[in-house]
Amino acid sequence: MTITVPETTSAQRSGSELLSIRDLNIEFFARGKWTRVVSDAALDLKPGGSLALVGESGSGKTVTSLSILQLLPKNISRVTNGSINFDGRDLLKLSEAQMRDVRGGEIGMIFQEPMTSLNPVFTVGDQIAETVRRHRKVSRKEAWARAVEVLDLVGIPAAARRAKDYPHSFSGGMRQRAMIAMAISCEPKLLLADEPTTALDVTVQASVLQLLRQLQDDLGTAVLLVTHDLGVVADFCDDVTVMYAGEPVEVAPVDDLFGRPSHPYSAGLLRSLPQRTPPGEELTAIPGMVPQPDQLPPGCRFAPRCDFALAGVCDVEHPELVQLQGGQLSRCIRIANGDLTAAQLVAAPQGTPAGHDLSTIATDVAEQNGSDR
Ligand SMILES: Nc1ncnc2c1ncn2[C@@H]1O[C@H](COP(=O)(O)OP(=O)(O)OP(=O)(O)O)[C@@H](O)[C@H]1O
Ligand code: SF4
Ligand SMILES: [Mg+2]
Repeated sequence: MTITVPETTSAQRSGSELLSIRDLNIEFFARGKWTRVVSDAALDLKPGGSLALVGESGSGKTVTSLSILQLLPKNISRVTNGSINFDGRDLLKLSEAQMRDVRGGEIGMIFQEPMTSLNPVFTVGDQIAETVRRHRKVSRKEAWARAVEVLDLVGIPAAARRAKDYPHSFSGGMRQRAMIAMAISCEPKLLLADEPTTALDVTVQASVLQLLRQLQDDLGTAVLLVTHDLGVVADFCDDVTVMYAGEPVEVAPVDDLFGRPSHPYSAGLLRSLPQRTPPGEELTAIPGMVPQPDQLPPGCRFAPRCDFALAGVCDVEHPELVQLQGGQLSRCIRIANGDLTAAQLVAAPQGTPAGHDLSTIATDVAEQNGSDR
């Protein structure tokens, strides 16, 4: 089995980010008007690094990641501002033909439901070989050999034989592995994985994540992982961007996020992790829901759900994303002012037992994940 290490990218040569998004605004046309669903999105990912985009349903994770590939639905969506620099080029300025080379070539994609991405009428091997031929000047035979090689690499037993099977004869976990095989078949510099394990059962989930991490180590591929599960993030990623109601609210290295969350929303997500809830106790969910993009509250978008909201301040002023002393970025007026601290966010909320604090969150999650973080 050959593992090919991708050529040095221009980002690696210059020591800069591989992917850098700035000031990204995205709008959708719905109910007769354009509404902004992503505001001022920003993220940075180094070559070979791993970044998680987390947040509850409707926070703008998928829309942000689809915009990187220019895969947002035509006519009903538009990018109104910002830049998406990938390996030295602004992807927003590329033509559709240029983007076709990027998709599946320089950037691989893994989606939540592999059955919607694998074509049921072609064999798994043919589909991977076709991707290889679209992006590499190789013969049919070489493309097929590469398909078998990557299926083997992602742990499909008897890969040469199974490559001739149709997707329906693969189990859910095997289909997800086949998707990953297709995504890495052209040695992409970046893998976009949108909820890659949500449709899988817990043990398969763990093995697919382990596979992704191993590939990242072996091949040096950067990974942008979209997930609503902070437990997965703890074990897999270097950095996290927490999104809420279409905008980033905290950006931090994973260990810092778990050790000293710097936004009440991040602390709420950590507190509601299933790993934190003793058996038989109800999950500690953040009360309320993410607001719809056309019904955003004035001031801080999280204010109606925030235990720390100050009337007359948080419901008036829209917070900026500011850099804190430790380097984390936070979009919270009170954290930025210094009148709310990470220690207060970590402490148990009023009226709950001390065990509800977040001081042991990192070890609790690591224990559940069976890792040594
Ligand atoms: N085709 C569409 N038309 C109109 N609005 C849309 C469309 N797709 C997404 N949106 C809106 O964009 C916002 C962000 O959606 P997105 O799918 O990015 O959320 P998400 O964070 O990926 O959520 P989930 O965890 O459920 O996947 C939502 O408010 C959603 O209603
Ligand atoms: S700005 Fe106010 S409402 Fe918003 S997260 Fe901070 S404390 Fe809560
Ligand atoms: Mg999504």
